[in-house]
Amino acid sequence: DHIYIGADIGGTAIKVGICDENGTLLHSYEGPTGTEDGQDAILENIAAYVRKIVEDSPFAWEQVAGVGIGIAGFMDIPTGFMKTSPNLPLRNVPIKQILEEKLGKLVKINNDANVAALGEAWSGAGAGIPNVVCYTLGTGVGGGIIIHGKIYEGFNGMGGELGHMSIVPDLEAIQCGCGKMGCLETVSSATGIVRMAKDAVERGDRTSLSHIDNITAKDVFDAAKAGDEVANRIISRAAFYLGKSMAAIAVVVNPQRFIIGGGLSKAGEFLFEQIREVFRKFTPETAQEGVEILPAILGNDAGVVGAAGLITRS
Ligand code: BGC
Ligand code: NA
Ligand code: ZN
Repeated sequence: DHIYIGADIGGTAIKVGICDENGTLLHSYEGPTGTEDGQDAILENIAAYVRKIVEDSPFAWEQVAGVGIGIAGFMDIPTGFMKTSPNLPLRNVPIKQILEEKLGKLVKINNDANVAALGEAWSGAGAGIPNVVCYTLGTGVGGGIIIHGKIYEGFNGMGGELGHMSIVPDLEAIQCGCGKMGCLETVSSATGIVRMAKDAVERGDRTSLSHIDNITAKDVFDAAKAGDEVANRIISRAAFYLGKSMAAIAVVVNPQRFIIGGGLSKAGEFLFEQIREVFRKFTPETAQEGVEILPAILGNDAGVVGAAGLITRS
């Protein structure tokens, strides 16, 4: 029987997994990405972890039907060529070709958030629903649009790059890792939340957040939940632009469900309530009727499962 390997490449960790044809994760392994060692090291680590997980499993290398890879960045999907990645040191690399040479197996690459969306649509919070839009809130803001059960890639792979929707008004906009101004990612990612918190501390705003060098997004959420006004302002701003972006998507794609995953989604109802309120405020009644905004359920596994799905489901 065939097995399907999925790999989820994040800024700090690479997670690989073996899935069966139903998207059940049988084995998984996680190792460091090696971001600081540059692009060759990252690619070698991916290949090494894939070999290792099969070696450590009861399966034979011959059973591997292919390796699906989810990776942050702007890429030509059919050829698997990474053009540039806002948060990883990968530029103009033929990832698919290099990994096929290293592994001697079919390799398919796709955007990390597209793949997580596919995972959630396959066996997570979107199971059984044909049209869903997913956000992954972490270092960046990722997006994935699933239409009729398939990833919508767009003309050149930029379909679903929701984090780079330019949405913050000019006067308040700052530059994004993609080079442009006012992207959703600048305010609604963990990085954006931390930046806003540090700015507030530096400005001398009255807040319980003071350990400026190592504030995390979780600290900001915790402070907000505990009633800190500055922290609440920051979280509301992150939620506001997420909700507004969903209002825009609701009248373009009209998905039945919005799914939010990634580290920040662990903030739970505190965050979701605010997003839903903004969404309700800005979306025409008919475009919000029956539309739900729900947390992802596969958690950390969505990327690996969806990446394996690139092989089984296409
Ligand atoms: C990148 C996306 C990625 C997202 C989450 C963004 O900065 O542009 O390609 O999906 O971060 O990792
Ligand atoms: Na995407
Ligand atoms: Zn951007």
